Formats: sequence, structure tokens, C-alpha cells
Amino acid sequence: MQRDIFEIIKTRRSIRRYKKEIPDERLIKRCIEAACYAPSSKDSQPWSFVLVKDIEKIKELSKTQPYSRFLENAPIVIVALADENKSTHWLEDCSCATMLLLLEAHSLGLGGCWNAVYLPGTREREDHVRRVLGIPKDYRIIANIGLGFPDEKPLSKKVKSFKEAILKVV
Ligand SMILES: Cc1cc2nc3c(=O)[nH]c(=O)nc-3n(C[C@H](O)[C@H](O)[C@H](O)COP(=O)(O)O)c2cc1C
Repeated sequence: MQRDIFEIIKTRRSIRRYKKEIPDERLIKRCIEAACYAPSSKDSQPWSFVLVKDIEKIKELSKTQPYSRFLENAPIVIVALADENKSTHWLEDCSCATMLLLLEAHSLGLGGCWNAVYLPGTREREDHVRRVLGIPKDYRIIANIGLGFPDEKPLSKKVKSFKEAILKVV
């Protein structure tokens, strides 16, 4: 069933609890393909992804930082990388791609959550993920994305209204 993009945007939530069932490879492929349509500075497309299915490696990723614990039960983790030689705006570029990935995941009935690896001023978290997955040093590591079929229904949240979001109209 085709769903309206605004409906997908409005109903997406961060999902941190997942059913044990491993999502079909085709669904994961669709999420990555969606990510690759993201806008990027000078169309540099500096992103790459690591698909992590190995349970032991996922366990190690769940120790990236204090708020990574939820990854432990994810059937799959996608790690979003950015080649910093390809774009001055690698962080924004890769963030756009990650957002599209999460939206596509939601539209396919999957649930996902961004887990911050990149942190300004330190490379400690990146070094951890780099070590666990053997990622070459040209790649910055933006996020671990936990993915699976949702096993939770987050409470509704309040978002800024149009009026609250507009600082001024000039
Ligand atoms: C840049 C960024 C970093 C985030 N890092 C984490 C994280 O490390 N751990 C986590 O559980 N959630 C993380 N999140 C998810 C946010 O907590 C979540 O998006 C926020 O609470 C709003 O909830 P919603 O996604 O359901 O709308 C991150 C989200 C973003 C955009």
C-alpha cells in the first residue's frame, strides 16, 4: 500500500525494541537505496554503510557509548560512514542519508533508531566502532542505526506547531 510522505514523516518514531525476526535482505536493500537519494554538498554522495548482522559484533557496537545499549537486541545494525575527503559537508550529507534511511525503514514497517557515534571534540566513539568493524581511517563514522521489526509503540510526542517553529516572517 502506497502511503503519503507526510503521513510517513508524522508517524516515524525512534524504535529501540525489536522483534527477533531478521528483516528480509530486500527490505534492508530498499533502506540503503533510499539513503543514496539524499541531497549532498556538490552532489558528493560521501556516504557508505556497513551492514552488521554478526551477533557478537552487534554486542560490541552496543558498548559504543552510554546510550548504545538498545542496539544489543537489534537483529541488524547499519553503520553510516562518510568519506571526509569527498565533501566538506560530510556530516550534513551523511545525516541527510541517515534520515532518508530511517524514513524508508518506517514506510516498510521496520523500526529504527539513530545512535550517535560522531561527537564533536573526540574520536573515542568512532575509534571503538572502527576497531570493532575494521573501518579504514578515511571514513568518519556518523551513526549506528539499529533496525528491526518494532516491538514497542512509543508514547505520542509533542512537536513544535507551525507558529512555534517560525521565529519571524520578514
Ligand atoms: C543526531 C542524533 C543522535 C541520536 N543519538 C541517540 C543515541 O545515541 N541513543 C538513542 O537511544 N537515541 C538517539 N537518538 C534518537 C533521539 O533520542 C530521538 O530521535 C528523539 O528522542 C526524538 O524521538 P523520535 O525519534 O521518536 O521522534 C539520536 C537522534 C539524533 C537525530
